Parts: sequence; C-alpha cells; structure tokens
Amino acid sequence: MPWPSTARRRDDGELEVGGVGVGDLAAEHGTPAYVLDEADFRARARAYRQAFEAAFEQVGAGVDVYYAGKALLTVAVARWATQEGLRVDTASGGELAVALRAGVPGAAIGLHGNNKADEEILAALDAGVGRIIVDSRVEIDRVADLAAARGVVAPVMLRVTTGVHAGGHEYISTAHEDQKFGLSVTAGDDGGTSPALAALEAIVARPELELLGIHSHIGSQILDPSGFEAAARVVLRLRADLAERTGVVVEEVDLGGGYGIAYLPTDEALEPSPVARDVAEAVAAVCSELSMPLPRFSIEPGRAIVGPAGLTLYTVGTVKPVTVSGGSADDETFTRLYVSVDGGMSDNIRPALYGADYHAELVGRSSDAAKVLARVVGKHCESGDIVVHEVVLPSDVRAGDLLAVAATGAYGRSMASNYNALTRPPVVAAADGASRVLVRRETVEDLLALDLG
Ligand code: LLP
Repeated sequence: MPWPSTARRRDDGELEVGGVGVGDLAAEHGTPAYVLDEADFRARARAYRQAFEAAFEQVGAGVDVYYAGKALLTVAVARWATQEGLRVDTASGGELAVALRAGVPGAAIGLHGNNKADEEILAALDAGVGRIIVDSRVEIDRVADLAAARGVVAPVMLRVTTGVHAGGHEYISTAHEDQKFGLSVTAGDDGGTSPALAALEAIVARPELELLGIHSHIGSQILDPSGFEAAARVVLRLRADLAERTGVVVEEVDLGGGYGIAYLPTDEALEPSPVARDVAEAVAAVCSELSMPLPRFSIEPGRAIVGPAGLTLYTVGTVKPVTVSGGSADDETFTRLYVSVDGGMSDNIRPALYGADYHAELVGRSSDAAKVLARVVGKHCESGDIVVHEVVLPSDVRAGDLLAVAATGAYGRSMASNYNALTRPPVVAAADGASRVLVRRETVEDLLALDLG
C-alpha cells in the first residue's frame, strides 16, 4: 500500500500516522493538509544513503546523497535530511535560502538551474556552497566572473545530456536531445568535439573555477534502473576523454535523481539496494575498461525520499452520481460517483499536468457499504480539476468524511498554486503521537497582502 510506514488503521477504522489519528489532525490543523510521516522520511533518507554507501564501498568508491529539495523543501525537512547524513540539492535562490535557514552547511549544498540569476550565483558563492552545477557555455564565464569579483574559486560541476532518457518503465536513448538542460556529449555533424567536452575544457581554462565533476540527470519516476547504468557509462567515457585531452581527471560523477515510487497499491517502487549495487558495479566495470580511477559518486533523490512519506488529508463535500455513457454497446451507461474535496489542482497539479494516478481512501471511519467506482475532484472552476481519476470507494461516502490521498509528499506542496485564490494548505509533521506545523496554512489575508491594489 502506498501509505507512509507508520500509517495504520485503528480498530474503529480511523487511520493514524505517526501515532496521530487523522480526526485529530483534521481538528487541529484543518483540511486540506499535507501530512508528513517524519519517521518514514528519515527512514527513506537513511535507506538511500546506506544502500549507496554500502554498494560503493564494495567497489572502493565514496558516495554522497543529496536530497533534491525541489520535491519538498521546508526548514524542518532540510534539517531531517541533514541529520540523516544527506546533503541538500537546491534549484533556485529560494530553495538555497530555505536550506541555509535550516542551518545546512554551505559546503553540503548544491545549486542547480538552467537560468540562474547573478544574484543566485552570488548567494551561492557567499554561502560557500559545495557545488554549482553549470548548465551552459555562457554560464561558465558568468560564474567565473562573479567568483573573480568575490575573490573566490567556485566549485563547479557541468551538467551534461547523455542521450539517455528514463521515466516510467523504459528508457530511450537519443543522441541529439531537444531540451533545455545541460550540454550534449554528442559531437556535431562535423564529428568534432562535443559541446560537453568543449565546455569542460573551458572550465579547466578558468582559474576562478574548480572543476569537481560531471553531472547527469536522466529523468523522474524511473522504475527501470538500466537507464542509470547507461548514463553512467556515457558520463565515465566523457570523463576519460577529458583526461586524455587535458590530463585532468575529475573527481566526481553525479547521476541525479529519478528513483521511482509506488503511487498505487499495485505499483512496485524501485528499491535502493539493488539499484545501488547495479550502478556501483557498472561504474567499477567501466572505470576498469577505461583504465580510469573510480570517481566519488553522488545521487540526488527527491521523490523517493519524501513522496511516500506524505499524504494529503481532505474533507469530502458534494457527492454526486453522474451517469456516463461507455462500455461496448452505444446505449450502455454506468454511474461514476463524483466525490468533491476541499482542495484540488491547486494543492496537487500532478494529475492535471501529467495524468498522474493516485490512490485515495476514506480514512476517518470504516464502512461496510458496497464499493462504487468514484472520481475524486477538487473545488476549482475547471473540469480538469481531478485529484484521483479512478478509485473504488464505499458507496456511503458523504459530506464531512475525511479522505486521504497517498504518496503526495513530493511535488505536491512544492508545485502548489493559489488558483481561484485558494490558500495553500499547511505542511504538518506527525511523529511519536504528536503533530507539528512545519509550514502554516496560507490565509486570504496573506493573498490580499500581496495585492497592492
Ligand atoms: N536532480 C535534478 C538535477 C533534477 O532535475 C531532479 C528533478 C532531481 C534531482 C530529483 O528527481 P526525483 O528524484 O525527485 O525524481 N515535477 C515533476 C518532477 C520533475 C523533476 C525535475 N527534476 C513531477 O511532479 O513528477
């Protein structure tokens, strides 16, 4: 089941998380609310770190795990990640500010972005971040010039595109990628130096930059780990090419995030240990083929750490049976129960944006009523405002019931909006029988305060 690890049903059917019943959570914090199982988050963070450390130790290499803050970053979440031995990967000056507010040491922070503002680069340099991941040729000189202005040497990695794309159940490989991130390892039609290799040489030529390594992120919600191995091969070959041309052997290789999770009861998540082992063995084999020393390795999981640790708690409002045509015969119809909740696409845009599927259950009580085909929808003025496309719920679902959607910890709050001037829900942590607000609920006053008339 895609619920957080401390979730369990009490005898009366009420769900509890972190030892706190959803009834108490709703009474204390209101709905909708994002609820985070702190123990689950910490356990997943630890599991990723330990799995990769163990696998890379086997082949004689070191590893760092960065928590990808874009999935969900709050001060407490950044602290949990750090306390579990992870570093923090940020994708903007805002995320960097949250990590710094949490007391994450600059050296344990990475900064990404394909279009970083000078202010973001300067903030990173001033914080002494451990690495800035450079994404384009022009950025090489911008970071170098800003480092020179500050009188520091900027530690950088170069983001490259390997042609390996993963996500869902398959990976595809295309030499010339048509997307905005990184620099391609594929040479142009003239067969000359690839943009990635040329950029690495340009970094080496700037004394204000310290070239730490090469970065590649191949996709998200990856369930077939072979894409990681394929990307590792390409990155390690590029590292060897750079060594051959310049004598510089870069220390680090980062393969980004993308580890897939279970959203539905029927889904199988990617387990960290086997992936770590496969990737470590592939890295070791390729380095040996290329007669290259092993790099220090890093990864940036976001979804796999926080996704399953979170759920969204809603209160049911309008329940409406809708007769729908369908089935094989033209005149066949069936009934779908539309269950409206007090949030929607403003707190979870993923179903509307990606067609993402989720699992929902009534969590405030048990019910022996017959099961019916339902669709959970939000309260926005848009028919695409769907929270769960298809789920089976008890037919006695009614206004006032508590309903939870599982596995919303990643990219829910972080992609939330104020569409229809809805206020964004709080992030509440539950652990050891108590709950605590990590980010408070927005109020209409907050929204009005931004509107200067
Ligand atoms: N590192 C880099 C450089 C990334 O671009 C990403 C995600 C990650 C790490 C973390 O990936 P994860 O382990 O969380 O899959 N909004 C989309 C996901 C976009 C991911 C973008 N980059 C969604 O809701 O599915």
